[in-house]
Amino acid sequence: MNVLGIETSCDECAAAVVSGGKILSNVVATQVPFHARWQGVVPEIASRMHTEWIYGVVEKALSDAGLEPEQVEGVAVTAHPGLLGSLLVGLHFAKAFAWARGIPFIAVDHLLAHLYASRLGAKDPPEYPFLGLLVSGGHSAICRVDDFDNVTVLGTTIDDAVGEAFDKVAKFYGFGYPGGAVIDRMAQSGDSGAFKFPMPNLYKTGKDGKDHRCDFSYSGLKTAVINQLEQFRKKKPSGTPGGEACDIAASFQKTAVEILLRGLFRAACDTGITTVVAGGGVAANSCLRSRLAEHGGLRIIFPPPELCGDNGAMVAGIGEQYLLRGGASPLSETASARVKAFRRRYP
Ligand code: KG4
Ligand code: ZN
Repeated sequence: MNVLGIETSCDECAAAVVSGGKILSNVVATQVPFHARWQGVVPEIASRMHTEWIYGVVEKALSDAGLEPEQVEGVAVTAHPGLLGSLLVGLHFAKAFAWARGIPFIAVDHLLAHLYASRLGAKDPPEYPFLGLLVSGGHSAICRVDDFDNVTVLGTTIDDAVGEAFDKVAKFYGFGYPGGAVIDRMAQSGDSGAFKFPMPNLYKTGKDGKDHRCDFSYSGLKTAVINQLEQFRKKKPSGTPGGEACDIAASFQKTAVEILLRGLFRAACDTGITTVVAGGGVAANSCLRSRLAEHGGLRIIFPPPELCGDNGAMVAGIGEQYLLRGGASPLSETASARVKAFRRRYP
């Protein structure tokens, strides 16, 4: 089934065609250079650029796939979560395309799509259930995945998302934008033991009666790394870490990864599930990949780098699964900035 997937939840304007689980095309037009000046995504700019680009991006996805619009059999689109104005551009384009051609329209959850990405084109796709490690700029969660649309959150961040922590640290230090990839690159030539940053211990502070074993937090680490910048400012007239910048990047990255892994290993112990599928932009992180590869007891599956960040193929891929099951969304379906698809282990 030829399924067109559209993704405009944040700053990537993306469209792809998937057929029978195979990617026929995958076009991602990034707005990164247009937001770099502000060191973060400016929602108004994002939605305006999606409006300007969406037609051309979809046209290219169809021509790369060698398809005419009339050969598309279903349209899937990210409907939540994300920036509302940006989501609405893709959502309305998809609805109009589906309505004009009389084909089914599927509203997809962005986080489910990230978790689905590693199955696309995989020779040996993981059996359900598996553990999902969802790590992006807006969300971080450790989940039990029983099916492509049946996900239970076992642990999540109680404050900042892991990608957000990378982006904010890079912003404060002036390392560059977006922070994740920059810090990852700098860390290659840094000493990860040079600075000791704190690991949060939520397990001991679960005064609300809930079990926080697999939850995690990034605000303490972020604050500690930013406070270190104050120390540099006091000591050096230039106020920058200078030659120690790569050590800061490596030490921060190592701690950020350890925080995730502690929750993940606890989830593996609790559930007895030993297959882990990663998804989201931070899944491209080299330290996370190498630390997980060292862990002999778990089978770790990462999507290829082009499917880690936001893309239309993951949306088309999961959309095809809904269609194969006979599902379709009403054209009255609307966008939402919030996560809708996950259940929490406790209310
Ligand atoms: O999934 P994604 O493309 O967009 C969201 O849904 O948020 O993830 C973007 C996030 C950003 O915070 C970016 O800094 C981070 O992924 N990221 C990385 C790396 N590449 C992208 N973080 C750490 N290491 C990387 N190599
Ligand atoms: Zn994403």
